Amino acid sequence: MSSTTTTTTTTTAKAAAATTTTSSPAGRILKLDNVHAFYGKSHILHGVTMEVRPGEIVSLLGRNGSGRSTTVKTIMGQVDGHGTIQFGGKALLGLKAYEIAHLGVGYVPENRDIFAKLTVHQNLLLGQKHGAKNPRWNFDDMYRLFPRLLERQHTEAGVLSGGEQQMLTLCRTLMGDPDLIMIDEPTEGLAPKIVELVAEYLKELKRRGIAVLLVEQKLAIAMEISQRCYVMGHGRIVFEGTPAELRANSYIRKEWLEV
Ligand SMILES: Nc1ncnc2c1ncn2[C@@H]1O[C@H](COP(=O)(O)OP(=O)(O)OP(=O)(O)O)[C@@H](O)[C@H]1O
Ligand SMILES: [Mg+2]
Repeated sequence: MSSTTTTTTTTTAKAAAATTTTSSPAGRILKLDNVHAFYGKSHILHGVTMEVRPGEIVSLLGRNGSGRSTTVKTIMGQVDGHGTIQFGGKALLGLKAYEIAHLGVGYVPENRDIFAKLTVHQNLLLGQKHGAKNPRWNFDDMYRLFPRLLERQHTEAGVLSGGEQQMLTLCRTLMGDPDLIMIDEPTEGLAPKIVELVAEYLKELKRRGIAVLLVEQKLAIAMEISQRCYVMGHGRIVFEGTPAELRANSYIRKEWLEV
């Protein structure tokens, strides 16, 4: 009897401690420790250790095929992994993608998967988090961030330009009110002016206290907006540091980044 009581108390204490660490968005950290990932028998990530602290913009850089998308997909529960992945002290490995999203991790994949037959507004509506009490963002915020989406709110998303679709995907993810947003190559194929708009958008997220993990290949934008960056090569982190440190490290840039 008394042992049952002790167990219950311990469980309650653990639950309370877990709530304390996860209740404040400002205190949530994404931490990967020695993460390995696999597609079937192909071993792609080899012991990745990295973190994104609250309110930071962190870039994950590397050449094609270095494992950057696999890293974010593993965090999001879409690729088999082992090791440790924690967000706000909660273990993510083994959870389903929707459970991870519900914990406050937003993910914008490489392929801009909008709902082509739905309007811009309906796409945004689908991104809304169910049961969120005080979401940080509403439709007006999205339309203010990207006025182009307001003009096209009743248009079918499938006919939007690539840049507009990218903005819509970013905004739809934001409607889920994430504390951390992971964005895979948001500027790929976009004109320089639109790239600048995406950079402004990411800075606005940071101003509102949202942490960003940005997967990029364009060094200029990554260096301009991130506080820290990681470089990946062959499924391993080969460099970690500030943009200034990366700029000063010509060996790393030549060996792992420049084409
Ligand atoms: N679904 C998959 N099945 C098997 N292998 C895959 C799969 N997806 C990616 N890979 C392999 O995993 C490695 C890492 O790919 P990943 O997509 O993570 O690279 P990346 O750094 O995002 O590069 P990029 O997006 O520029 O191609 C590559 O060798 C790739 O061929
Ligand atoms: Mg990729």
